[in-house]
Amino acid sequence: MARVAIVTGGTRGIGEAISVALKDMGMQVAANYAGNEERAKAFTERTGIPAYKWDVADHAACQAGVAKVESELGPVDVLVNNAGITRDSTMKRMDHDKWQQVIDTNLGGCFNMAKAVFEGMQTRGYGRVVNIGSINGQAGQYGQVNYAAAKSGIHGFTKALAQEGARSGVTVNAIAPGYIDTDMVAAVPEDVLAKIVAGIPVKRLGQASEIARGVAFLVAEEGGFITGSTLSINGGQHMY
Ligand code: CAA
Repeated sequence: MARVAIVTGGTRGIGEAISVALKDMGMQVAANYAGNEERAKAFTERTGIPAYKWDVADHAACQAGVAKVESELGPVDVLVNNAGITRDSTMKRMDHDKWQQVIDTNLGGCFNMAKAVFEGMQTRGYGRVVNIGSINGQAGQYGQVNYAAAKSGIHGFTKALAQEGARSGVTVNAIAPGYIDTDMVAAVPEDVLAKIVAGIPVKRLGQASEIARGVAFLVAEEGGFITGSTLSINGGQHMY
């Protein structure tokens, strides 16, 4: 039986590349998305991967969304928590909404989705969870107290959940991407981005497929001894 995978934010950017990579591994993939119907429709037409709409920040919607995927495709073996948003601004201009939206989506979304699938994985004795963190959760970033806090939280979440899954064959790992050529990074002001790229040792943005390759590695059947780890894929921008 093909493994069943859910990729949140799976119809665009890094998520799209992950959805395609998992399909290429022979998995049955459900790509979740929150709002962009047009892009989701085009994604399904292009890839043949079904798209499911719900907001990962909404706990009840995650329960219902996972139940729908499981009734159509079967129990979820692989969860990739990729959905994320930015609301960048300096602390001075950051209102409470910008803080809360990013925490609720980027970090709360990981909890909501894991809550819906983790117990089933433990019961069945197999699971792969990959959470997409960020270089900015490791190193911090000017203008991103919300995003850096949420992504840093993801790295702690990963290490804690990995300990709970270990005895039942459920691995939990994180990837910390650097600056990848996506809509999210394209929204950074041009002059700011040029300075950031100049500081990346390989002197270019990463490609979404370069993150997907890391996810494919972590979710492989042979990956049972890799858990609680963080794989940094950032062109050498932050090493530790
Ligand atoms: N370190 C120190 N000072 C900095 C700085 C930095 N990194 N960046 C800006 N400043 C300074 C500026 O030089 C400027 O100083 P002066 O007033 O003395 O000239 C001051 O801070 C204000 O800078 P801005 O004009 O840029 O301020 P702004 O309010 O217009 O914009 C900002 C602030 C929204 C944070 C903008 O700088 C920005 O978008 N920065 C990019 C943030 C970023 O990297 N986001 C990543 C998004 S992609 C992502 O998150 C994916 C991932 O995981 C990697």
